[in-house]
Amino acid sequence: MTSLKLNRNQFGDPKNQGNIMDVGEANSLLSEWVKNEKLVFHMKQVGHLMKSYAEFKGYDKSTQQMWYIAGLLHDADWDQWPDEHCKKIIEELESRNQDPRIMKAIASHGPIHFGVEPESEMDKMLYAFDELSGLIHAYSLMRPQAYEGMDIKGVKKRLKDKSFAAQVSREDIADASQRAGISLEELIQFVIDNQLRS
Ligand SMILES: [Fe+2]
Ligand SMILES: [Fe+2]
Repeated sequence: MTSLKLNRNQFGDPKNQGNIMDVGEANSLLSEWVKNEKLVFHMKQVGHLMKSYAEFKGYDKSTQQMWYIAGLLHDADWDQWPDEHCKKIIEELESRNQDPRIMKAIASHGPIHFGVEPESEMDKMLYAFDELSGLIHAYSLMRPQAYEGMDIKGVKKRLKDKSFAAQVSREDIADASQRAGISLEELIQFVIDNQLRS
């Protein structure tokens, strides 16, 4: 990941709180911007985990929707504008008058890279699911049974093996789990149980 510091901490307009695009609009933005199918699937997986977690916490439907959209769009600019990741998608969502919390979560999905601290629970969970979901997805692809019988121990073994899914940042995973205040084991189990499959 290239490191583009966003150099700001204010996103969107507070008066747009509650403006959350529907899945149709988000998907049409994705099909316009992202040609890489694997990247689309990654964002769908993260979006699904975000929604599942909001549901697990008992949050209402519009909160679940907000968490889903943040996950679904967090890497939307990566395919065409990797040097402007995640500046481009944030500006696009600002121009569409989206709820500021969506842009803030996207801005903080890589604090080392973008220089924005995850603060809300939604910020922290997006950061926590991003890399971990990628590693677990890669692990599922090499297992004949995919997710069936997958356990925490197996995932931790792949985490320790730095040559496995080498692009996945182990540092980010450890940092994100600490910031979320959720043990790595608990996070791994949540992803195994809730990850969107193929
Ligand atoms: Fe990203
Ligand atoms: Fe991502």
